[in-house]
Amino acid sequence: MSNPPILAGVVGWPVTYSLSPVIHSTWAHRAGINGYYVPVAVPPSEDEFRQIINGLRRVRFAGVNVTKPHKENALRLADEASEIAKKAGAANMLTFQKDHIYADNSDVVGFANAVKEQSTNPGIHGLVLGAGGAARGIILALQSLGLKKITITNRTREKAEALADEFSLDVVDWDRRSNNLDTADILVNTTSLGMTGQPSLEIDLNTLKPKSIVADIVYSPLETPLLKAASSQHTIDGLSMLMHQAVPGFKQWFGGTGIVDAALKQTLLTEI
Ligand code: ATR
Repeated sequence: MSNPPILAGVVGWPVTYSLSPVIHSTWAHRAGINGYYVPVAVPPSEDEFRQIINGLRRVRFAGVNVTKPHKENALRLADEASEIAKKAGAANMLTFQKDHIYADNSDVVGFANAVKEQSTNPGIHGLVLGAGGAARGIILALQSLGLKKITITNRTREKAEALADEFSLDVVDWDRRSNNLDTADILVNTTSLGMTGQPSLEIDLNTLKPKSIVADIVYSPLETPLLKAASSQHTIDGLSMLMHQAVPGFKQWFGGTGIVDAALKQTLLTEI
């Protein structure tokens, strides 16, 4: 008898528009792997999250990606977690072992690899806009890339200050965010500004150095107002990060090598 298909998925709310199933299905198809990767909608209740995760284990899922609003729930649920997931305070991967759930965070390595694709030397100073859950992963990625100085700015200054204390960062006022660009090697938007239906991100890029990298975690639209304004810089869009963060899960659950390339991006573009 042939082996049953490998099962994995993404758990979130809402999850209908997640592109992760397209990424994993494309890679599984390319590699001839017998597997399914499905979206699983779980309302924002930690209890329901636990129940559904246990159900997925019982039906022999290999693991799941976890997205909003369950990344913190995922870390709490796991029996064991990687150091990076603990530092991020969130997990976007759960792997189901025999009697054991292992949590990891591939958002961090995903962003770091998206930066490496643009530059082998990302510089020394990063400016991070926003201080929510996404900012934590980006800060860890910038630190893992060896940036010596990271400045954070957020509309609610206290949240920036709390992250600054935890990760040894500098803080600038949200109103002065444009004033700190002349020394920045990487600028990253981790806020929801620029997303379809949200206000645009107001920032004057005139003083940015020509070789600096500008990244946006927003991928709908793919070309955010920030990335449009930065068209003469090296840019990293939200899809690039999304594709890179999927690589560890594909390896872990399907045993394959996920290649991030233009063909995959083209496939995803037809879906957004
Ligand atoms: P995520 O997990 O995606 O980071 P989040 O934790 O809700 O989501 O964080 C959203 C980020 O976008 C925060 O930094 C938020 O700023 P506040 O901490 O001041 O709320 C930022 N953000 C959202 N709407 C914004 C707006 N209109 N102007 C400025 N910042 C905004």
